[in-house]
Amino acid sequence: MIKNTLVRALFLLSLVCVFFACTKEPKKRIPMPVTDLSAENLIPKPLKVIPTNSAFALDEFTAIYTAKGATGFQEVAEFLADKLSKKINLQVPINDESLKTVARVIYINQSDSTELNAPEAYQLYINQDSIIINSNTAEGAFRGIQTLRQLVPDSSNDTLALQKIWPIPTGKIIDNPSFAYRGSMLDVARHFFAVEDVKKYIDILSYYKINVLHLHLSDDQGWRIEIKSWPKLTSIGGSTEVGGEAGGFYTQEDYKEIVRYAAERFMTVVPEIDMPGHTNAASVAYPFLNGNGKTLTLYEGTQVGFSTFDTRKDTVYAFVNDVVREISEITPGPYFHIGGDESHVTEKKDYVYFVNKVEKIVQKHGKRMIGWDEVAIADIDSTSISQWWSSEENAKKAIEKGMQVIVSPAKKAYLDMQYDTLSEYGLHWAAYLPVDTAYIWTPEGYGGIPKENILGIEAPLWSETISNIDELEYLAFPRVIGYSELSWSSPENRDWENYKIRLANQAPFLERMDVKYYPSPLIDWKKSKYSYETIEKD
Ligand code: ACM
Repeated sequence: MIKNTLVRALFLLSLVCVFFACTKEPKKRIPMPVTDLSAENLIPKPLKVIPTNSAFALDEFTAIYTAKGATGFQEVAEFLADKLSKKINLQVPINDESLKTVARVIYINQSDSTELNAPEAYQLYINQDSIIINSNTAEGAFRGIQTLRQLVPDSSNDTLALQKIWPIPTGKIIDNPSFAYRGSMLDVARHFFAVEDVKKYIDILSYYKINVLHLHLSDDQGWRIEIKSWPKLTSIGGSTEVGGEAGGFYTQEDYKEIVRYAAERFMTVVPEIDMPGHTNAASVAYPFLNGNGKTLTLYEGTQVGFSTFDTRKDTVYAFVNDVVREISEITPGPYFHIGGDESHVTEKKDYVYFVNKVEKIVQKHGKRMIGWDEVAIADIDSTSISQWWSSEENAKKAIEKGMQVIVSPAKKAYLDMQYDTLSEYGLHWAAYLPVDTAYIWTPEGYGGIPKENILGIEAPLWSETISNIDELEYLAFPRVIGYSELSWSSPENRDWENYKIRLANQAPFLERMDVKYYPSPLIDWKKSKYSYETIEKD
């Protein structure tokens, strides 16, 4: 069936060629300039790039076809066509077999080749007349079209033919990520970010093949997700944020919309409810939860480690069960993050007791537990995951328990660390992280953790010092683009001098997307014809 579709597409193409041979206009094969696929500014760098030094002529006579009956492939084609329409104002038809004027095809093919036996693997074969994207899954096809988007030039070449042509260098790309989990965390608790802001972040992250968005949904300063069985969490707990601003929260419908938007980009949302510490907002809403013996008030400061749930009350676990259940029901991804960091006023024995019980609750609701590295001191099992942010000792404990680790060391991977002493936003308690320091380190084997124990890499963005999307973008970009390469590309394909040039060439995309990135002086940013204000976004 799938092979038939390919045959049909190629047959169609040959008919079209005959048609053009008779009419001579427009020409099927247009003499194209020599271009070098290996010199393209792709991020993350693919596993293998083999140039063949010609070009595919993307133009108004190009059409997209997809393997018939391949689940999700039509949607991937629609995503590509939409992005092409926005970037270069070219309308590329999809699966329209009645067209008479097709000269070139982009074929998104489902292939069960053993080389593609990984969920995100894809091959991109770019010839003069066809681009074939092979993958086993729609997810792989999606990663492939994100690469293709990066190969489409911003401007057409209008000297090659009567019509506008966007030349795409020919050759082969064979690609597959190093790590399955490639994430960024957004703290929407210290400052709240609207659904539209989160969607914009998702869209840019997915362009660079990041596939996990971890949302830090609760903290001392605010509770940000509607829980229907405990409404005061948001009506009271959601009313504040750092600095006395208005707070806010996602309704379950809002959250579902974020999850849907992320899923459309093959990105998994990981919800985090931070406990037993970082729980002031929840305990103000429902004081029976509080275990620190003090009378609580809403909190808008930035100090950490003063709050805790009462870990010895059954009602606390009934509460946690409701929260985990309601969020799990609207979270299709496999993970639930329970926080577990900086519980400085929870006795160690109570902390261990709490994490042990909450792990079971998470599992009962069908999810795999993730916790910050401290959770490894509890008696948790090997299916749970430890997120290494601070303690190498805790990361090693997790390995001894057979757990997988997400590598997020604050001194290398925290997006809220300032670039340098002049940075407008951010903190520096772990380090200053200029763009080169953020890129030049090796997560594989970091701290002696074997690669097979590393699920992936995540770059967290805490929001104590940022209160709007522009400030968020200043801290996240360009560094998060480097983390995409650290988590996707193999170590031998990573090189700062080469990356620096490819990063400089992201400026036109970032500016077209209205991303207020930090223009690091370490990078010779490519001049762009776009200004932040004047553009239509991809
Ligand atoms: C953390 O930065 N407290 C995980």
